[in-house]
Amino acid sequence: MSAKKITVVGAGHVGATCSQLLSQKELAKEVILVDIADGIPQGKGLDQWESAPIEGFDSRVSGANEYESSAGADIFIVTAGIARKPGMSRDDLLKTNANVIRSVSKEIARVAPDSIIIMVTNPLDVMAQVAMEASGFPRERVIGMAGVLDTARYRSFIALELDVSIEDIQALVLGGHGDTMVPLASYTSVSGIPLTQLLEQDRIDALVERTRKGGGEIVAYLKTGSAYYAPAAAAVQMAEAIVKDKRRILPCAAWLQGEYGFNDLFLGVPCMLGENGLERILEVELDADEQAALATSADHVKSTVEALKAIEAGG
Ligand code: APR
Repeated sequence: MSAKKITVVGAGHVGATCSQLLSQKELAKEVILVDIADGIPQGKGLDQWESAPIEGFDSRVSGANEYESSAGADIFIVTAGIARKPGMSRDDLLKTNANVIRSVSKEIARVAPDSIIIMVTNPLDVMAQVAMEASGFPRERVIGMAGVLDTARYRSFIALELDVSIEDIQALVLGGHGDTMVPLASYTSVSGIPLTQLLEQDRIDALVERTRKGGGEIVAYLKTGSAYYAPAAAAVQMAEAIVKDKRRILPCAAWLQGEYGFNDLFLGVPCMLGENGLERILEVELDADEQAALATSADHVKSTVEALKAIEAGG
């Protein structure tokens, strides 16, 4: 099973890595990179297509500056915008990226009104809202990539700490992306064994803290950019769940309508992803601390949305 067409908007680090993974996994017959930069999506698309005879994939990869070639695409992975620089908070990106996402989402709705948007651009939870509003799409078709990445980082650190296979580690991270994420210790296990039986609480706390700061750790190393291999892998895993109608349960940013007691905001929760996009939100039991942490996370998302409104109202 694969889609007919998947477009990646933004042919930068994250976007180009997404298209490479999408084509190598043959998740669509056509993979299109779209970017405003003249020649960049065309050049990267052609370069990737020239790797097809070696890698042995038949997804046709190409690039464009316009959206016409993406008409009728099944999925858009949106990575357009500016990336976080050292010392820059996610919220600093707010205004610029909101404008980018608004214009991109309108183009998507114009050329592919039935498509599904996977939002990657930060600040994620807010950009997903901007995309939903600008596209007019229902919540089933606008999903944010955050939890899969945060969970992957957490799992990667647990695997290193215990020196066990990455395949056996299950974890669930809820809440906003990054600093306000809420890792659920009671839902973290190694081959079914609760993590709390394998690691002391202070070690778990240290891994959680490293996960929270995971994006910043990469920025500190790269200096001129932010993470892209793991973010791209996370977005592509979501696309795969959708095009193969796998009904996977993945932590994603979804527009909440009463779930977990929150309304009208995007927040990371366990989502079932299938052919219709967001098939279902799963509500899991949280203890009082976890519920409080989720509320803090929701407050952060809400205040970022308010900050954006205030900036935009002020001109
Ligand atoms: N339409 C299409 N593409 C755009 C637009 C636009 N309106 N504005 C900017 N872009 C493109 C840029 O030309 C650039 O090629 O988006 C691309 C962004 O690429 P990078 O700067 O390499 O950023 P990247 O590291 O890929 O991160 C993209 O993903 O993880 C998030 O925080 C990250 O928000 C950032 C996004």
